[in-house]
Amino acid sequence: MSNPFSDFFNSIFAPKATSVLGIDIGPSSVKVVQLKKQGGKAILETYGELSLGPYAGTDIGRSTVLPVEKIAEAVKDLLKESNTTTIDCGMSISIGSSFVAFMRMPLSEEKNFKEMVPIEARKYIPVPISEVSMDWIQIPKDEQTLSEFQNGQKVEEDNMADILLVVINNDALEKNKRIQSILGLQVAFSEVEIFSCIRAAVDAGIAPQVIMDLGADSTKVFIVEKGILKASHVINRGSQDITLSISKSASILFEDAEKLKIKDGILGTDKNNTSEISSITVDYILSETGRFILNYQRKSNKKVSKVILTGGGALLKGLKEKAQNSFETTVEVADPFSKVAYPAFLDDVLKEAGPEFAVAIGLAIRRLQEI
Ligand SMILES: Nc1ncnc2c1ncn2[C@@H]1O[C@H](COP(=O)(O)OP(=O)(O)OP(=O)(O)O)[C@@H](O)[C@H]1O
Ligand SMILES: [Mg+2]
Repeated sequence: MSNPFSDFFNSIFAPKATSVLGIDIGPSSVKVVQLKKQGGKAILETYGELSLGPYAGTDIGRSTVLPVEKIAEAVKDLLKESNTTTIDCGMSISIGSSFVAFMRMPLSEEKNFKEMVPIEARKYIPVPISEVSMDWIQIPKDEQTLSEFQNGQKVEEDNMADILLVVINNDALEKNKRIQSILGLQVAFSEVEIFSCIRAAVDAGIAPQVIMDLGADSTKVFIVEKGILKASHVINRGSQDITLSISKSASILFEDAEKLKIKDGILGTDKNNTSEISSITVDYILSETGRFILNYQRKSNKKVSKVILTGGGALLKGLKEKAQNSFETTVEVADPFSKVAYPAFLDDVLKEAGPEFAVAIGLAIRRLQEI
């Protein structure tokens, strides 16, 4: 029997949908994701990306350095094109405008960390303290590590606390605030892109996982254990370098080289050997990453369980297989949209688009968790 009051009660007691945005401003493009919380779930409402090249009078896919007004203009266009409907958002801070460090402090001083950590942190910060803002967390002790035998020797239970220090350049925070005020956005937080990416791309496993974020002009590599950042490394080579090398070696325009890169990746067989040219940059990035991983494994005496590829450059055809051979471990392409609900017919499109949107999704998920 239908209940005449059901609609009435549903409309009163139905959980209110609340929408939020994640806005990721990279050097080559801006990305946005809008999520809403409904019935305890994160639901994808809309998403979009806009290349910044044209705003700098240059090609799509190129890395740019733009004045804040131009970036705001691009974000405005993107929000309009993507039909976003909320102003509540989290924004990214690029790794280049930030700095993470791992500090050790005596556990006996734990109750004084609030005062002591910021003072001790100054030793790690290479710029005047007035130019940065900092935050830190105490990393929970890993019982396993403490009781483990490392290199045949029992690890001494040390009485030091591990602290993760995150430092952001004030200019970058100011830039986000300017964009907020120009566009009338409500920015709840600015977050260093590494942490957004971890939230969106890492799964719940406890063994160390490596994330490679292949951006336009750099590749960021970080190692995460139990959801916590353990080490990070930036390689000053990215997917744009592949395009530049194709353009140079085949004497073609950047925009044509970009198309060729996307079409063939490192699997092409054309007469200009573009795939071989692309492989030079890829090999460099993989060998630098491999070295970083080996170093971490040696120091921690743990083996990484897998490598997750993210960022637009992760889509390069043949990269996953090549990385798999190079690292001799499982390599996956990130699927960050799998963390949210969306209509089934979008499955293929979102699997393909996912790596580029990892940071924007991670930002939106955090904002959703806060409200
Ligand atoms: N299908 C594809 N195949 C290969 N490369 C691709 C593909 N799609 C995008 N890219 C490349 O990905 C790069 C952009 O990646 P992404 O959007 O993650 O960078 P970004 O966020 O602007 O930069 P960064 O992460 O360095 O701050 C560009 O160099 C672009 O050519
Ligand atoms: Mg990026």
